[in-house]
Amino acid sequence: MARRFPLVILTGAGISAESGLPTFRGAGGLWEGHRVEDVATPEAFARDPDLVLRFYDARRRALARVAPNPAHAALARLEAAWEGPFLLVTQNVDDLHERAGSKKLLHMHGELLLVRCVRCGFRARLPGDLSGRPCPNCRARPGLRPDVVWFGEIPHGLEEIRAALERCALFAAIGTSGEVYPAAGFVEEARAAGAHTVELNLEPSRTSRLFAEHRFGPASRVVPAWVDELLARS
Ligand code: OAD
Repeated sequence: MARRFPLVILTGAGISAESGLPTFRGAGGLWEGHRVEDVATPEAFARDPDLVLRFYDARRRALARVAPNPAHAALARLEAAWEGPFLLVTQNVDDLHERAGSKKLLHMHGELLLVRCVRCGFRARLPGDLSGRPCPNCRARPGLRPDVVWFGEIPHGLEEIRAALERCALFAAIGTSGEVYPAAGFVEEARAAGAHTVELNLEPSRTSRLFAEHRFGPASRVVPAWVDELLARS
């Protein structure tokens, strides 16, 4: 088959791990030393905006110190070579896919570098720290928050993702633990559409048994190898 069948790829924190960004579910279930409820919910922001903003400021600053790795680059190369429908859905809020050259990219959990004001709805790509900073539009403080999807909020682009899953012939999930829905359910939607399903991860994920094919190992090794194979046989 030519490089024309519809492809959907889902990525998670594991693809950015070798770039130096920590994954979410390390030992102890803490997220960089914080309980998720303390830093990644609308209630946490209402209760202690400064703690939440300082946590995200540290993560925004960390982006300047990291670079895409060969797994991000391989997916950009795949997209450039692919002639059929292609959608890269990432749960990651970092910008490493776009820095590697990916274009047909949907950030379903938002983006760290985007901010929005909870008071006036102002939305922009703003560099620099957010803690203590008034909204440039309405001057509310706190008003600005990172435009990321917190627990209890609805992920972005679900309609577009579901439409792509319904017609896809190949679905690959890369570097994701399968712990967080709705992304963890995409494999079942792809299977229902008759797609071939591949998991590329360091170890079996929670939903591993739902995939038809598995490639275990670090993303910087298994993703470029899988892309090479796919391009060679398609
Ligand atoms: P997790 O931290 O839950 O899972 C990361 C996965 O990557 C694990 O299965 C690891 O085994 C795997 N992994 C680690 N290093 C790897 C490497 N070098 N190569 C390949 N795989 C590797 O991260 P996500 O599944 O992305 O949501 O988490 C999903 C969501 O939970 C996040 O988007 C975030 C979080 O709460 C929100 O913020 C809404």
